[in-house]
Amino acid sequence: MSDFTNDFWSHFVTAIALGGILACALLLWWTARFRGPASSDNTTGHVWDEDLREMNNPLPRWWMGLFVLTIVFGIGYLVVFPGLGSYRGTLAWTTQREYAKDVEKANAELAPVYAAYSAQPVERLAGDPGAMAIGERLFLNNCAQCHGSDARGSKGFPNLADGDWLHGGTPEKIHETIALGRTGVMAPMAAAVGSAEDVKNLANYVLSLSGSPHDSVRAGLGKAKFTVCAACHGIGGVGNTAVGAPNLADRIWLHGYGQEAIIAMINGGKVNQMPAQQGRLTEAQIQVLTAYVWGLSNKSPAAAGQ
Ligand code: HEC
Ligand code: HEC
Repeated sequence: MSDFTNDFWSHFVTAIALGGILACALLLWWTARFRGPASSDNTTGHVWDEDLREMNNPLPRWWMGLFVLTIVFGIGYLVVFPGLGSYRGTLAWTTQREYAKDVEKANAELAPVYAAYSAQPVERLAGDPGAMAIGERLFLNNCAQCHGSDARGSKGFPNLADGDWLHGGTPEKIHETIALGRTGVMAPMAAAVGSAEDVKNLANYVLSLSGSPHDSVRAGLGKAKFTVCAACHGIGGVGNTAVGAPNLADRIWLHGYGQEAIIAMINGGKVNQMPAQQGRLTEAQIQVLTAYVWGLSNKSPAAAGQ
């Protein structure tokens, strides 16, 4: 109920829940009290099929007892569990706590399986088929929504299987990326570059770095402007994993290919975030995922033999 900005809905739900119970109790009391008109032989006077008559007897006691029990149970339930608006119930039961308990239980059950894995170096783990089967499942459940089920990524989400790294591809760097997350930031650069023509020339120079189709006259004119970019992308645009600046001299494009895409990057910049997994996943799970991701572009002899 904390999703609401005031208490109205809380009171509304409480009123309906308690009102419903009260209405049931009143109905029970009223029907028990007023038996309705009956003739001297205790029938209602209705006759069907010539001699079938309706007696006017009260509900059996055990039946009444069940009704009363249901009402008492309902009230007891609403005291103990959350059911009355924002009232939490004496047990303070929540679905989140239930979920956290399940996760804790599952982690405890899996701890022995993971214990064997977290003691091993990533390079060895990547060759262990059992660990990699778990790694794949972890990846599909936690990473595939952004990086794709084959880890090949899509626009804005890096391919993790190609050996081209924004932040570094050693086991240590991959682990750091997964555990702590990353934020790639490129500020809008157009003001530092100059006019729209300058930006277009520079974009063609960037294309020339990877030998992509470009206008070589424009590239020549734009070359000098690249100094402002080299601070992050390195001389010759080879990239810099320390700031997550991609290599512009290969033909792998994270944010789209061609002059227009590069102009858009220079004009608009980009903030791109990889969410930290520490706290969501256990340290052992991160270790297995590190090995899985590392193994995608570093086929160890054991893994290659699979
Ligand atoms: C919400 C989307 C999202 C999810 C979920 C996600 N990632 Fe990422 N990941 C990204 C983005 C975006 C980047 C690029 C960050 C940047 O541009 O600097 C990235 C970058 C990375 C990198 C660095 C790649 C490089 O070239 O250096 C690795 C490794 C990685 N993710 C692994 C994972 C793993 C393993 C998981 C699952 C636990 C995961 N990611 C889940 C969005 C996501
Ligand atoms: C402050 C550091 C910084 C500077 C300066 C900088 N960039 Fe970037 N650039 C980045 C980062 C970081 C990314 C990756 C963004 C992300 O994580 O998605 C990037 C991405 C790009 C991309 C997309 C690459 C791809 O694979 O799609 C292009 C193109 C690019 N920059 C061109 C330039 C040009 C041209 C300049 C100079 C005008 C420049 N950058 C200046 C940090 C920088």
